[in-house]
Amino acid sequence: MSADVSVVRFDTREWSDEQFDALFAEGFPQFILADQDAKALIAPVRDSFAALDIALVDAGENPVAAGWGVPICWDGEVADLPSGYTDSLRRAVDLRADGGRPDTLVICAGVVHPEHKGTGLATKLIHALADLAAREGLTKVIAPLRPTLKHRYPLTDINDYASWTRPDGSPFDPWLRLHVRMGARILTVAPRSQTMTGTVAEWESWTEMAFPVSGDYVIPDGVALLRIDREQDVGEYVEPNVWVQHR
Ligand SMILES: CC(C)(COP(=O)(O)OP(=O)(O)OC[C@H]1O[C@@H](n2cnc3c(N)ncnc32)[C@H](O)[C@@H]1OP(=O)(O)O)[C@@H](O)C(=O)NCCC(=O)NCCS
Repeated sequence: MSADVSVVRFDTREWSDEQFDALFAEGFPQFILADQDAKALIAPVRDSFAALDIALVDAGENPVAAGWGVPICWDGEVADLPSGYTDSLRRAVDLRADGGRPDTLVICAGVVHPEHKGTGLATKLIHALADLAAREGLTKVIAPLRPTLKHRYPLTDINDYASWTRPDGSPFDPWLRLHVRMGARILTVAPRSQTMTGTVAEWESWTEMAFPVSGDYVIPDGVALLRIDREQDVGEYVEPNVWVQHR
């Protein structure tokens, strides 16, 4: 277990570039920022829901983990789930604009500092977000998870991948497993949680690969395939997630 940490609102600290870069150093591939719809929503999300954006800091006030979510209204049925990450942001922003009352926290992301992985901080982070939800009157906690080992199986359908188990019956994927161990249950998959688009040159830069012809490509850290269309000068990558609900 990691040393003692405190929970702080992310925007109540001035993080240095070094602290910020270190925290996110191994977190996400560059193309994660190429979701154009999410890009347009992230400013209103940050403005409106800063209270749901937290960091865990160690005794020296260094950020060792961070995570955030958005509040939506969800009736508890699979059919009423957002289509994934980006749709969750949209629903949260729309609900706020309409003056609606949220009842559900959607955990959108979590990251543990590379030097502190494997020390139990991920569990503390999820607990902290769930506690926050309860304090904010959000009675349900759900998350569209980006399974951390899916990138090694980009050809495998997300339905199949989500159903893989270890001999002890627990989920094969470590991030899914962690949530399930904490009491979450898998609800369904989100086959089109996020859509990332860019020009061929942008994809070549993000992936450090060349895409000389149109077609589907396996890319580093891609949980699905990248489809390149050279004639239209566009690459599209649709990221699947797995919905879980915490108790
Ligand atoms: C996902 C993440 C938050 C989990 O934090 P963590 O500190 O590694 O969590 P834990 O140490 O509790 O590990 C959880 C499980 O993953 C396993 N694990 C961790 N890293 C692994 C790896 N690279 N390969 C295989 N298994 C791994 C652990 O062994 C543990 O499995 P267990 O059930 O056998 O105990 C962290 O790895 C991370 O920041 N990843 C990058 C960002 C990310 O992908 N976030 C999730 C999507 S938003």
